[in-house]
Amino acid sequence: MKLLFLSAACLGLGLSFTPSLNSAPLGQGSGSKTPTYAKDVAPVLHKRCANCHRPGEVAPFSLLTYADAKRWAPMIAAVVKEGSMPPWKAEPGHGDFVNPRILAPAEKAAILDWAKNGAPSGDLTKAPKPPKFADGWKLGEPDVVLEVPQTFDLYGEGPDILRNFVIPTSLGKDYMVGAVEFRPGNPKIVHHALVFLDNKGEARKLDERDPGPGYSSFGGPGFFPSGSLGGWAPGGQPEWLPDGVGRYFANNSDVVVQVHYHPSGKPEKDRSKIGIYFVRKPATKFVGGIALENWDIQIPAGERGYHRSASYTLPLGATFLSITPHMHLLGKEMKVRAILPDGSKKSLAWIKNWDFDWQDTLIYKQPIELPAGTRLEMEAWFDNSSDNPLNPHSPPKKVTYGEESTDEMALCIFEITTNKIEELLYLIQDDSRHRKVVERAIEAYQKKKIGG
Ligand code: HEC
Repeated sequence: MKLLFLSAACLGLGLSFTPSLNSAPLGQGSGSKTPTYAKDVAPVLHKRCANCHRPGEVAPFSLLTYADAKRWAPMIAAVVKEGSMPPWKAEPGHGDFVNPRILAPAEKAAILDWAKNGAPSGDLTKAPKPPKFADGWKLGEPDVVLEVPQTFDLYGEGPDILRNFVIPTSLGKDYMVGAVEFRPGNPKIVHHALVFLDNKGEARKLDERDPGPGYSSFGGPGFFPSGSLGGWAPGGQPEWLPDGVGRYFANNSDVVVQVHYHPSGKPEKDRSKIGIYFVRKPATKFVGGIALENWDIQIPAGERGYHRSASYTLPLGATFLSITPHMHLLGKEMKVRAILPDGSKKSLAWIKNWDFDWQDTLIYKQPIELPAGTRLEMEAWFDNSSDNPLNPHSPPKKVTYGEESTDEMALCIFEITTNKIEELLYLIQDDSRHRKVVERAIEAYQKKKIGG
């Protein structure tokens, strides 16, 4: 569905580029006016695209050689021009995040100019060799390697699914985790993954009730996690937490891996691994999660600009490490900002063009300190019209809050830390930000159940 949509856009945009892009500064020395593959384009494709566009990876074709690039040139130009590739949904200037998948203006201009001029090869003997990608763990040998207990079989054709796998652990004592690396068993079908902790055995029960390895869910993992070990998306790099900060991993917790699968066209198998790295320096600050959420969602059929918001005033100061905006298939846009006690505003993230398939946990390059009295604000917009190509209903139907693919959510999760653990616990347990909306949502939920 999505591929078709992009391809159609591609035909329309095909080869009409604005002339102003001709004068792109390429810094390539004398005489070279038209960018060539060998000199200008290969380095960009290798650096920005090949991590996904190579054999066995998530993208449907490789972009490693001149033949690949030449064959796909018009479509490459179209997706680069419209900004859909490389996939990266956070607007520049709204939060400074680690490993952004974006093209520098000169790289973008080089690709467009090259494609417009017939995708010339240049001197291929001087073209850079396709990059080598390390097979091993990116952060070195982990302290603990966990593997999903059984291989999962995914059908070749059908809708995307979220499958949760429960891995029991027994580390002998509690640990502080400094970094986590997720390794998909089969990168062709693993679209993203989230890793949770469960110290109450709730996920095991869900697993028992669902035949086959793991259990299905849609939005969340189906239980309230006791902690998080972060997330992974294709092209992502594992990151160490700042010194002195760790994720608390209680002894005997179950690790619950939620994998978003995207069928490849052929039946496939997957069994993912997780590498756990304990903190290298003593850590006394814990990572915890707080959220802004609005449960009162009732989107009339056909409505294009349905809007929801949520806000919360921090009763204590905290350090913000990452942000994870979350909506489902009707989500269009999310804006998150902080209003500081002095009235100044700070944008925390802006997803201008939400896409359920490309949701990331965005990690701030520099953790953001927000003082007590800061008001966090989230705004979300939804499109429940038939113009939304991801709309699960045709014709559109009324959509309400829930965790199924056909329900919606307006949620933004923050990973935070504080100087003292008591402060973190206070913030995590303080549900004043939710209370009013919760009551309304429970009402709405009960009505739905009774069939009202
Ligand atoms: C993070 C992984 C990732 C990166 C990085 C990436 N792609 Fe893709 N690309 C994909 C996937 C997956 C698809 C399949 C469609 C989809 O799921 O959006 C795709 C599809 C495409 C398509 C086909 C679009 C269509 O309509 O079918 C083109 C062209 C493309 N990518 C070009 C690029 C170029 C050029 C770059 C680098 C500048 C790039 N991609 C970087 C993952 C990636």
